[in-house]
Amino acid sequence: MSTPLPPEAQQDAPLDGQVVVVPGGTGNVGEGIVRAFLRAGATVVVPGRNQERLDKLAELIGPEPGKRLVGIRAGYGTFAECTDLADRVVADHGRIDHVVPSIGGWWRGNTLWQVDEDDWQQHFVDTTTAHLAVARAFVPRLDAAGSYTLIAGFAGRQAYPQARIISMHAAAVLMMREALSADLRGRRRVNNLLLGPILNRSRPHGDPSWLTADQVGAAAVAVALAPSVRDESISLGTVAELDEQLARLRA
Ligand SMILES: NC(=O)c1ccc[n+]([C@@H]2O[C@H](COP(=O)([O-])OP(=O)(O)OC[C@H]3O[C@@H](n4cnc5c(N)ncnc54)[C@H](OP(=O)(O)O)[C@@H]3O)[C@@H](O)[C@H]2O)c1
Repeated sequence: MSTPLPPEAQQDAPLDGQVVVVPGGTGNVGEGIVRAFLRAGATVVVPGRNQERLDKLAELIGPEPGKRLVGIRAGYGTFAECTDLADRVVADHGRIDHVVPSIGGWWRGNTLWQVDEDDWQQHFVDTTTAHLAVARAFVPRLDAAGSYTLIAGFAGRQAYPQARIISMHAAAVLMMREALSADLRGRRRVNNLLLGPILNRSRPHGDPSWLTADQVGAAAVAVALAPSVRDESISLGTVAELDEQLARLRA
């Protein structure tokens, strides 16, 4: 028998009137997160450094759901950029209910001692700085009933072959979530999704047990709708694990 949904999750648009910000929404995983929040009725704000990538996202989402998609051509890689961005979202929309940062991508190299300075800067320093910049600008502006859900990969739990600096970045994001939870002490809901490999527009085929980007989005919406879920690392390695987590989150 399927698990009954709570009343708000049974609505067609349970997040109607809410404002969700997805830094990294132009990316492969971010696209699924953006689509899921739009389907749940939210206004979804996606900042991006590159107009072409914002236009591509709007095209992928389509005109009808895209009516509530707000692309903003703006960087969020520095503290100052992020403060400006968060102020702008509050000024334009009056509130920020949920933030789901899905920042950074993949990189392959060789041993850790062969990493060059450009790769380190791009795949560890810049992406980790962007995550902290987003957290320090958006967490204090979050609605009291809102949520902050970081996206990280299992690479953060094991030193991934030929992708050690991605593992180091993901480990930093996981610890950032723990640090935010420790500092907030329950005043805001902070969680992270811990992902295995994801099927997405750049990698449409793979092991059938892997989640799709849209399923990551469904999990992020379920977390946003579950007021009792806080300070958790939610493991989503396989579709079977997703089904278990959704049943729990929606119970
Ligand atoms: N794809 C997977 O299979 C998978 C699996 C597990 C975990 N993850 C995690 O999910 C997150 C997103 O991955 P993805 O596959 O969606 O990556 P992606 O397609 O490369 O997208 C990365 C996103 O991050 C944004 N970004 C902002 N600042 C950045 C910076 N300094 N460097 C790089 N990107 C920056 C990009 O925005 P712009 O449009 O401004 O460039 C883009 O929207 C990452 O943390 C990744 O580790 C992904």
